[in-house]
Amino acid sequence: MVSAGAVQQQIDLARYPEGDSRTLNTAQYLINRENLTRRAVQFGRLLFHHDFAEDERSGCNGLPCVQRNERARTGPPQSMFEASSCATCHSQPAGSAGFSEARHYTFTSGNTIRGPDMFGLGLIQQLGIEATEDLKAASRAGRPLVTANGVDYGSGLGVGSGRAIETDLVVRPFGRKGVESHLRAFASRAAFNHLGLQAQDRFQCPAGDLDGDGRCDGPVKAGVDPDGDGSADELTQGGLSLLEHYLINYPAPGRGRITEEVREGETVFKAIGCAECHRPGMRIRSDPRIEHLTVFWNEKNARFEAERRRLVRAVDDGYQDPDRMRAVLRAEPKREGLVVDLYSDLKRHDLGPQRADRSDEEGVNRSVFVTRPLWGVGSYTAFMSDGSAPTLEDAILRHGGEAQSTTKRYTALPVAKRRAVTAFLKSLVLFSVDDVLTAKIPITAGDLP
Ligand code: HEC
Ligand code: HEC
Repeated sequence: MVSAGAVQQQIDLARYPEGDSRTLNTAQYLINRENLTRRAVQFGRLLFHHDFAEDERSGCNGLPCVQRNERARTGPPQSMFEASSCATCHSQPAGSAGFSEARHYTFTSGNTIRGPDMFGLGLIQQLGIEATEDLKAASRAGRPLVTANGVDYGSGLGVGSGRAIETDLVVRPFGRKGVESHLRAFASRAAFNHLGLQAQDRFQCPAGDLDGDGRCDGPVKAGVDPDGDGSADELTQGGLSLLEHYLINYPAPGRGRITEEVREGETVFKAIGCAECHRPGMRIRSDPRIEHLTVFWNEKNARFEAERRRLVRAVDDGYQDPDRMRAVLRAEPKREGLVVDLYSDLKRHDLGPQRADRSDEEGVNRSVFVTRPLWGVGSYTAFMSDGSAPTLEDAILRHGGEAQSTTKRYTALPVAKRRAVTAFLKSLVLFSVDDVLTAKIPITAGDLP
């Protein structure tokens, strides 16, 4: 494999041109051409791991670059430049765009937060998009606000500012407060807040981004330097598209050993009402990704193995490679249906004083959070979105408010059943994506490498 540094020297990925599916060496060309769409994921990965403190072209937000770089290395965690790469905070398990073991401070509220992992985020984004479609259709028809997956947004906190869903009926799964509907928007927000990088789509966009999909609604204005630090175009549309493509295609979490106890735990989990909010079996109508990877424990071989399915078909759209004059096929996502055990309803709930931040944030009450998807939770080392619960049981006991009755049913269980619930949660695991890339976790089924 070419080292990240070597590729970065040849290609300036953060300043990669957006282009289109018919222009060589552009983000849209890579993303949309059959033989290159996986490379677009690799490029996104390199960007995610790129050390921007060493990158003078990334702009330094009004500071002399030396000073910005110094702050990125040594600054307090609440500074705008607390990190020099996305991977600074999203790094566990090692070899993955995972979670952060450290707790971070938010800039304004004094709350602490834990950096969550990137596993399966493309599926979560799509579930949100489809739920939004359902809710808008229901609202137009005067029907109750229930999605095709049976999530009732009219119940619980209901509709309103900072409630289960905002009045615009847009499901926003990202951020523990439910602030963004699209990864592209979250990524450009993170790039600015943590790395001081101004994305064209956010800062060089006269038309604005009214639909919140993270893409400028009109043409971006190239060549300007909004923060006046001497660097224009710190993160181009093309650079952001590569990062977005990477995040959308990040694999879903895996599954560890499924023992008798784990099976029993899952039954209890459903019986006492956890699954009301932490919903398994969420159906996606139109999977936007290029491939699906399932990592599971193979009991016979006593090891993790993976299955991979390609989700794109090659379509001849008449485009020819200009040098060799032969067809280069277009990669078109098959847009299949898929059911995922997400263990979330992607809705905000009030957990009461047992789980409250120090202060409100983003117009959302300090005890209100989007249900955390529990897939992958078995790999975490601290629980709840602030990382304040040292054990799974502790996390469960800190559910008050809307979850009060469920928590009571949990505490009334005999110890063995309680233990089964946490054993079940521990079987929902993340894995090292590097281990799959290096075949330490072998792909043994599906479309073999
Ligand atoms: C200083 C640490 C830090 C850095 C650096 C960082 N993040 Fe994050 N990230 C966080 C924290 C903390 C959250 C949780 C925010 C919340 O829940 O409100 C988060 C959340 C996210 C989410 C939403 C995930 C979800 O499940 O809701 C995405 C996507 C994300 N980050 C992408 C990025 C990208 C892309 C970069 C680099 C441009 C980046 N992050 C850099 C700490 C960081
Ligand atoms: C009323 C909805 C609701 C119910 C019922 C509920 N939860 Fe939760 N759960 C949440 C929300 C919201 C969060 C996110 C809290 C936060 O962001 O800190 C959460 C967080 C968690 C976490 C921490 C996840 C992480 O990433 O650290 C665990 C574990 C968990 N719940 C398990 C359970 C179990 C087990 C039950 C049943 C006993 C249950 N929950 C019942 C809404 C609920």
